[in-house]
Amino acid sequence: MALQNINPTSTNAWQKLKAHFEEISSLHMLDWFDKNPNRAKDFTIKWEDFYVDFSKNRINAETFELLMELAGEVKLGDAIEKYFSGDSINQTEGRAVLHTALRARPDYDIQLDGNPVMPEVIEVREKIKSFSEAINKGSLKGSSGKTFTDVVNIGIGGSDLGPAMVVDSLKYYQNNLKPHFVSNVDGDQVAELLKDLDPETTLFIIVSKTFTTQETLTNANTIRSWFADKLGDHAVAKHFVAVSTNLEKVRAFGIEEENIFPMWNWVGGRFSLWSAVGLSIAVSLGYDHFEGLLKGAQSMDDHFRTTPFHSNIPVVAALISVWYNNFFEAESEAIIPYTHYLNQFATYLQQAVMESNGKGVDRDGKSIDYQTGNIIWGEPGTNSQHAFFQLIHQGTKLIPVDFIGFVNPLHDNWDHHDKLISNFLAQTEALLTGKTDKEVLEEFKGQKADDITIGRTLPFKVFRGNRPTTTILIDSLSPESLGSLIAMYEHKIFVQGIIWNIYSYDQFGVELGKQLAGKILKEIENPEFEIHDSSTKNLIDYYKKHKKG
Ligand code: F6P
Repeated sequence: MALQNINPTSTNAWQKLKAHFEEISSLHMLDWFDKNPNRAKDFTIKWEDFYVDFSKNRINAETFELLMELAGEVKLGDAIEKYFSGDSINQTEGRAVLHTALRARPDYDIQLDGNPVMPEVIEVREKIKSFSEAINKGSLKGSSGKTFTDVVNIGIGGSDLGPAMVVDSLKYYQNNLKPHFVSNVDGDQVAELLKDLDPETTLFIIVSKTFTTQETLTNANTIRSWFADKLGDHAVAKHFVAVSTNLEKVRAFGIEEENIFPMWNWVGGRFSLWSAVGLSIAVSLGYDHFEGLLKGAQSMDDHFRTTPFHSNIPVVAALISVWYNNFFEAESEAIIPYTHYLNQFATYLQQAVMESNGKGVDRDGKSIDYQTGNIIWGEPGTNSQHAFFQLIHQGTKLIPVDFIGFVNPLHDNWDHHDKLISNFLAQTEALLTGKTDKEVLEEFKGQKADDITIGRTLPFKVFRGNRPTTTILIDSLSPESLGSLIAMYEHKIFVQGIIWNIYSYDQFGVELGKQLAGKILKEIENPEFEIHDSSTKNLIDYYKKHKKG
């Protein structure tokens, strides 16, 4: 069954939220904290080892209830059931969206066109398990009998960002295999990678859902030629494996049958790290950790599917995000993890969120006149504090921030960790409370500053505060907790897509640039000419005239 088609702006809740926004948009959160000593508790959700504090957001009890009403009016509950039950909710591509099946327990009963999905999922899971264990134990070796030391994932977009982020985030759990990722069609990236690799001890995983992606196939061909030059064509079979839905093209590339890991059309690239796309995760962290990641995601799936909306983390996070996006007209959201391990988390989320919800046509095929997908950006704290926090604290833009922190560090550097967490907590407090003229004046007086200095600099030292943050505090960074965290954001994306009445699981917006690049490549290679605007034509000419190759 298809998703319902409900314009959110036509709902009663939306109209009420508009009026409510006028009433409360100029109020300071601090007044709400003063009036309600239970505010922090009222807006905190404790779930497993997650403690999620939404209280430093520009919402009060009424906002919260109106947002819940909005979820009801757009029939979110019905949509969630369709999502989990394998309905064709990716309607523009005629597909189900079942990344939740990839991490589901084996007894999960889900049928697609009358066929159960789980047996195939389990079969591939078993294949990932036996392959990664054989690599890790050293029973599967390279062509010259040497144990593998390095693994290279060749893929781009969802076939790169998810696995790369997970492998980097969980490097504490890494085994002896050194992971590498090559994605860009930029030949300099692949050249730098190959400089340090020993072909005899390197495993290459080509990951491409379609097996037609220019970047991935170019890199795979370059690497294969480099490899065959060194060890001969006959050695390829022992070193190259592939993950794809396009088995014909994989075979044509010359990958051995037993080295092919299938995936399915009902998994979107940006949600595919739970499938064999995550093979680099399983081999470089060990299968048990890969399974831990799946388990963590699965628990979040249960939470999302079964918890009433009021205490449902992805639902609340998504509704608050809609509140800022559509009523406060906030353009972006920052994701700031206070662990350097999650260095690539915002980059990963950029694809997940922006490729999913960056849409301007609704489910009725009509142009949308309200805002959809948020711009996602971020860097780990505390580095980001010394880079762009100035703008978040005192700039003119409203930027809701997710602060993600861990109670326990992975290495016992408590001196560092206490400092890290003090910063984590201090930033959310500073963004909430700010600093008034009066407080700045008091501070000046304490420093015995003269009147001229005070007059000259006081306004610049004032912080208005009232800047929204959500604090996500997790016990520690583990495969399980990371799995839950990623799934939390995946479901937040889903909920927002439902509210905005868009299709979150296609990505037609990436196609035009690809088509034009194909045409321009032909013109670079030979004198034929297509019609271009004068700027593009001049640039092509300039490039052709000046290139030395
Ligand atoms: O260009 C965007 C995209 O289609 C993404 O959605 C996808 O994750 C990526 O390209 C890679 O695609 P593939 O896995 O088919 O190579």
